[in-house]
Amino acid sequence: MGFEERTHFKVDKDLCIRCGRCINTCAGMVLRFGKDGYPEMKPFERFGWKGCWKCQHCLAVCPQAAISIFGKDPSDSLEPVPEQMGEYMESLVSNRRSCRRYLKKNVDPAILDRILRAMNNAPTGGNAMGVEYTIIDDMDRVKEIWDKAYPVMEEKTSKHIHTHSFSDFFYKKMKESEGSIRKDDLLFCGAPHLFIAHSKCSGKWGEDAKADCIIATAYFELLCNAFGLGTIIMSYSAEVLNELAPEARKMLNIPLNHYTGLIVGFGYPEIKYARGVQKDKGAKVHRFSGEKRI
Ligand SMILES: Cc1cc2nc3c(=O)[nH]c(=O)nc-3n(C[C@H](O)[C@H](O)[C@H](O)COP(=O)(O)O)c2cc1C
Repeated sequence: MGFEERTHFKVDKDLCIRCGRCINTCAGMVLRFGKDGYPEMKPFERFGWKGCWKCQHCLAVCPQAAISIFGKDPSDSLEPVPEQMGEYMESLVSNRRSCRRYLKKNVDPAILDRILRAMNNAPTGGNAMGVEYTIIDDMDRVKEIWDKAYPVMEEKTSKHIHTHSFSDFFYKKMKESEGSIRKDDLLFCGAPHLFIAHSKCSGKWGEDAKADCIIATAYFELLCNAFGLGTIIMSYSAEVLNELAPEARKMLNIPLNHYTGLIVGFGYPEIKYARGVQKDKGAKVHRFSGEKRI
């Protein structure tokens, strides 16, 4: 089959102004001007580094909506990011806070559908899109996993068997938190839902695949907060499922060779924050700017 057929790359010649933007943004460098002066797809060996990256930048960049690829109609795309998003993003990134108290209520599935649709656009190394999302969006299903994991965690920790990052001291602190911040649930902070980004993180691209999971976790967290949901990123609960209670992890049907270092608990927040915090110590910034040369 020809490459134009495999990608279904089509140019509407009535609309195309031959500006070349599609050619100049093509990550796989598989577009060129054809003999007729309009963009065309070059032959390529295979999808990925040896051909089309399936990134759809050609469709997204065209000011004339003249390009279609993979059967996508450009008019079905979302509008570009509005120019004045900076203030909203500043507020979102600065004021999202970890939430450890939730209403005992399932989230409206329509909100979750929107968030997951947007999550399709989270970047992945090499546009490989190998990351997978497991979502437990029903409180009762979360409770089933909790019922399996929590007693095992209690039993093992009572015998001083802890996950790799924990100890008697840390566990005692977590236990104390069940009186206040993690009401009755040190494991999932009472979150009614869980989100886990996971991927097979081995081989040449293993590091990218792990980064994909972490990026997806961050995107998911921000999207949830943008839609008024509370979130808590948890490494401890992931450790418990991975190291203390494998039977509970099994219930998630996530292959054992997939990275699952973080779990996001999410739901409607019981407590809302009235203002932002004022952290003094942020990341150490090393900035190379201005005229100074090193
Ligand atoms: C990688 C990572 C792992 C975390 N693991 C946990 C966890 O296991 N349990 C928990 O309650 N909070 C966890 N957190 C949340 C942090 O403790 C939280 O970000 C911190 O308390 C600061 O609060 P803020 O998120 O509102 O700024 C984790 C955060 C990150 C980024």
